Amino acid sequence: MTRSTRAIINPDAIRNNFSQLRPAQGCTPIAVIKADAYGHGAVTVAKALSEVCDCFAIAICDEAAALRESGISQPLLVLEGPHHVDDCYAARVNNLILLIHNPQQIAWLDALSPEQRPQVWLKVDTGMHRLGFTTDEVAALLAGYDWLTQQNPVLVSHFACADDPQNPNNAAQLQAFLTLTGTLALPGCMANSAATLCYPASQAQWCRLGIGLYGASPVTGHPAAEYGLTPAMTLMAQIIALHQVKQGESVGYSQTWTAPRDSVIATVGIGYADGYPRHCPSGTPVVVRGQRGQLVGRVSMDMITIDVTDIKEVALGDDVELWGQQLPVDEVADWAGTISYELITRVSARVPRVSG
Ligand SMILES: Cc1ncc(COP(=O)(O)O)c(C=O)c1O
Repeated sequence: MTRSTRAIINPDAIRNNFSQLRPAQGCTPIAVIKADAYGHGAVTVAKALSEVCDCFAIAICDEAAALRESGISQPLLVLEGPHHVDDCYAARVNNLILLIHNPQQIAWLDALSPEQRPQVWLKVDTGMHRLGFTTDEVAALLAGYDWLTQQNPVLVSHFACADDPQNPNNAAQLQAFLTLTGTLALPGCMANSAATLCYPASQAQWCRLGIGLYGASPVTGHPAAEYGLTPAMTLMAQIIALHQVKQGESVGYSQTWTAPRDSVIATVGIGYADGYPRHCPSGTPVVVRGQRGQLVGRVSMDMITIDVTDIKEVALGDDVELWGQQLPVDEVADWAGTISYELITRVSARVPRVSG
């Protein structure tokens, strides 16, 4: 690699965030490392947490292979459960816990012998209406399948609005969940990062920590620093050209930005093919030499243009931070009209992840 564009991943930040989010005693945290650990590298993150974390969560069985090849031995909770009957056979061998949410998956597992059958947890829909059995269906499943009851399955649910602690839907979902786990006397797993912080009553026996581990804010309108979380990814690229642009001249595709004064424009080696969002508007902040500059004009496939007129001593080859240590990803996400989750998971494979 000769281009210096890179995502610097900080394992100490991930460990720090894990301990900042640590739930109360009696609740075991599961680190959510699906989607290549939200773009940070699943193997890197699992290794960073392997001494302190007893279980990891992935979305699909395919995400297990790289982790097992790299020696990660903790159980892996598969949040979407099996997509195919073959996933059920492979799960036992690979120490995967399948989170079951539909009758087809139950049928696949029912057809296996006891020696073939993997551990399963049950997904319950308490109001998000995305995945899971209704509370009545859960009771019926347990009554109908001895092998399931014998497993004492953990009941898993997910909040629709945990990032908005004032939303009354949270209390309604939590009530439904606690009633079910209480009635059936089964362990529970409901809280994500936001609920772990804002709804301690939802911590139950297990919780699932995702975005907070990566140092972005789990709670809308509250900076990550408020919870002692630090950015685990810093996205950097270099200035590859510097130009003087006269007042009234425009910059980039479709001439969407016109200089309001004589300006210094830097072209930076990162674009939407690297995962920098094309819909970031002019004005989106960047950091150069510890000072804020701003995106001007359209984001191109491999380059962006930034206004560095006011950056002291700016020079060709300077590093530009797109988000991370000095610029919270949540702030850039606001400018882009999206959420931090999307920005960090979309940093493309062309961008090397380096430890730092
Ligand atoms: C089912 C499930 N559990 C837990 C998480 C982790 O949530 P967060 O990243 O908000 O902590 C996610 C994230 O997408 C999820 O889909």
